[in-house]
Amino acid sequence: MRVLGVETSCDETAIAIYDTEAGLLTNRIHSQTDVHACYGGVVPELAARDHVRKLPLLFAAAMAESGLSRDMIDGVGYTAGPGLQGALMTGAAFAKGLARALGRPALGVHHLEGHLLASLLEIPAPTFPFLAMLVSGGHTQLIAVAGVGDYVLLGESIDDAVGEAFDKSAKLMGLGYPGGAALSRLAQQGRRDAIHFPRPMVDRPGLTFSFSGLKTAVANAVAAGSDHADVAASFEQAVIDTLVIKIRRALDQTGYDRLVLAGGVAANRPLRERLRQVMAERGGAVFYPAPELCTDNAAMIALVAALRLEAGESDAAAGFSVRARWP
Ligand code: KG4
Ligand code: ZN
Repeated sequence: MRVLGVETSCDETAIAIYDTEAGLLTNRIHSQTDVHACYGGVVPELAARDHVRKLPLLFAAAMAESGLSRDMIDGVGYTAGPGLQGALMTGAAFAKGLARALGRPALGVHHLEGHLLASLLEIPAPTFPFLAMLVSGGHTQLIAVAGVGDYVLLGESIDDAVGEAFDKSAKLMGLGYPGGAALSRLAQQGRRDAIHFPRPMVDRPGLTFSFSGLKTAVANAVAAGSDHADVAASFEQAVIDTLVIKIRRALDQTGYDRLVLAGGVAANRPLRERLRQVMAERGGAVFYPAPELCTDNAAMIALVAALRLEAGESDAAAGFSVRARWP
């Protein structure tokens, strides 16, 4: 089965084609970072307008790269939520219109399920069951994944997400928005033990996270004139230590020996290396998508749509709806 995926939940416009036999045939993405940079965050109306401009171009490029003719597409998947309402609508309208024109089924996909299963695009792919650590701009969740659609939320952040803490800390140091990756680059030049930041919630039992206090500690360190590279390095270390403690706990609790890292922050190199060590020590294995499949992309949406369409699911043919909030 060959499924075309569309992702427009936030500020990346993306189209990919996934073949259940041959794997990814094309994975096109256009980032709107330049459109929003001067506003210090994503402007929903501008995001939706830019998706409308870019979707047809990405579609043409994806079809050309795949070498497929239109009648070789067996289904269309799109991100139906959660995300920015207007942005989601553009992708849903495009995908459902395309499916209708092709006479193929369409399926709305949960964006976070895309992140959760993105590492199935890699070789070797993790087998079920596994523990997933989802770390993105909006979510910090530990999830027991027993199969497609079989998810148990074990713990999450009660305030800021990890990516949000990275972005807010980066902003405090004038690193732009979203500054997670820039902060991590700056951290390479700093000392990881220069400043002792809190490891929030680790003294308490359970799998709940909290990162807003850490962001405040960063603000204080910046205000006190600490070297920015040291702040970045010490902050990154505090985040990694905190995640590792909870991940170990969740692995003990579930008895799983496979860990999957997912979401934009999974692109963070020191985090990836540390978790590789941790899993090697435990005699388990860690899986993560290639960096370009960690951040928002349409490949993960095409993958989930393919798995679910193959299992017989599909949208109603007429109309469409999206869900800005979708637990
Ligand atoms: O999953 P994602 O692309 O978007 C959603 O939130 O759904 O995640 C984006 C987040 C941003 O907060 C960004 O700063 C962060 O991932 N991020 C990173 C790195 N690359 C992206 N954070 C830390 N280190 C990185 N290398
Ligand atoms: Zn995302």
